[in-house]
Amino acid sequence: VSETGSLAIIVLGASGDLAKKKTFPALFHLYHQGFLNPDEVHIFGYARSKISDEELREKIRGYLVDERKASDKAEALSKFLKLIKYVSGPYDSEEGFKRLDEAISEHEISKKTSEGSSRRLFYLALPPSVYPPVSKMIKAWCTNKSDLGGWTRIVVEKPFGKDLESAEQLSSQIGALFDEPQIYRIDHYLGKELVQNMLVLRFANRLFLPLWNRDNIANVQIVFREDFGTEGRGGYFDEYGIIRDIIQNHLLQVLCLVAMEKPISLKPEHIRDEKVKVLQSVIPIKDEEVVLGQYEGYRDDPTVPNDSNTPTFATTILRIDNERWEGVPFILKAGKAMSSKKADIRIQFKDVPGDIFKCQNQGRNEFVIRLQPSEAMYMKLTVKQPGLEMQTVQSELDLSYKQRYQDVSIPEAYERLILDTIKGDQQHFVRRDELKAAWEIFTPLLHRIDKGEVKSIPYKQGSRGPAEADQLLKKAGYTQTHGY
Ligand code: BG6
Repeated sequence: VSETGSLAIIVLGASGDLAKKKTFPALFHLYHQGFLNPDEVHIFGYARSKISDEELREKIRGYLVDERKASDKAEALSKFLKLIKYVSGPYDSEEGFKRLDEAISEHEISKKTSEGSSRRLFYLALPPSVYPPVSKMIKAWCTNKSDLGGWTRIVVEKPFGKDLESAEQLSSQIGALFDEPQIYRIDHYLGKELVQNMLVLRFANRLFLPLWNRDNIANVQIVFREDFGTEGRGGYFDEYGIIRDIIQNHLLQVLCLVAMEKPISLKPEHIRDEKVKVLQSVIPIKDEEVVLGQYEGYRDDPTVPNDSNTPTFATTILRIDNERWEGVPFILKAGKAMSSKKADIRIQFKDVPGDIFKCQNQGRNEFVIRLQPSEAMYMKLTVKQPGLEMQTVQSELDLSYKQRYQDVSIPEAYERLILDTIKGDQQHFVRRDELKAAWEIFTPLLHRIDKGEVKSIPYKQGSRGPAEADQLLKKAGYTQTHGY
């Protein structure tokens, strides 16, 4: 981290699920690896519940179960917890945010290294309905007032709205208070190792440059599966559904990196300019290229209405109307309560013209990038079956990260992204126009689903989703290969 000076990280919604599962563990890991200097940093929790500093610290200790057990981390954990303070108050209370500002200012004065500069990072681990009042309060009472440098930044989480209109409204409200370089819209898929590898893979390998287009690629699949249901999040989930929860953000961001043109440099603005162009080239989704599903038992959750049509599974085909991709289906598929937990990108190449081995029905070349679990990249190739006979077989060129990079531990997406917010690097964050273009793609379909015009088909928990989704894939030209 290049800048120095006091650094206050303020987690709003400190007792919520996100703070517990992601934000505090990521902060601890950054601290443990030396990325948060204890001479500079202080962490503040802000939430409504009236608890003491010590109670919040104990709660956080409770979240970090594995760290508590690891003897090399236990001492660091105790030191880390001492850096945490708590301020309680409502999310629209002047008085609460004034107290928060006092606490931050006290910390800034106490840090000898600060030399008067002030860095303030506000992490909104909160539902979007409170973003407007909270941003207003931060702007009015808690921004950096030092003449000697520093900054104020805010980090916001999805869902950024429910459709184009509500997202634009939210963007305008926050945009009236903070400039775009101060706003970090997190999509944690952009922090995953193999997602970050995508541009390197595409633009640093001569091998892929001439192949990455409609002449060679038959179809692209971006697939997310979870082997558990909504588990206590039914109320939240039912308002959003799988398209808003996973496809419109995580999978679409991955699509951008697979499909974008080469940026003129690695500057965040150049990369994001190219992503926006891809999104703007997507043509309206047709209902016949959508299959929705809902797992059986989803409505048993008491917070889910009995007649809910909310999809917990969806396959949608996006078509990019440009020179590189015309005619290539991008199949985005996501589902909860499925047979496995997996996320991958599957690039299927066209058949070999004039195949003298007559091996086409054995499968096409496929390049698979497994985002999780067990990060890997592998390429399915046709090779000669070893032995006396001339037989062909599908095999794999396999780069499994666990085997190849045994001594490297892969950082959690949130660690990387929080570090970027401190460094001021917006490359892996969603820009306002990107967000707008992403909502433009899905809003008409979402409205049709909300009105019940596109129905969710029931599927069994632990299955592959509705059979209609496999039929859609086939129709789109996906040919199943061995081992899939
Ligand atoms: C979140 C969704 O954004 O991503 C969850 O709201 C989902 O529903 C989660 O479980 C998946 O993240 P990961 O990193 O486990 O794939």
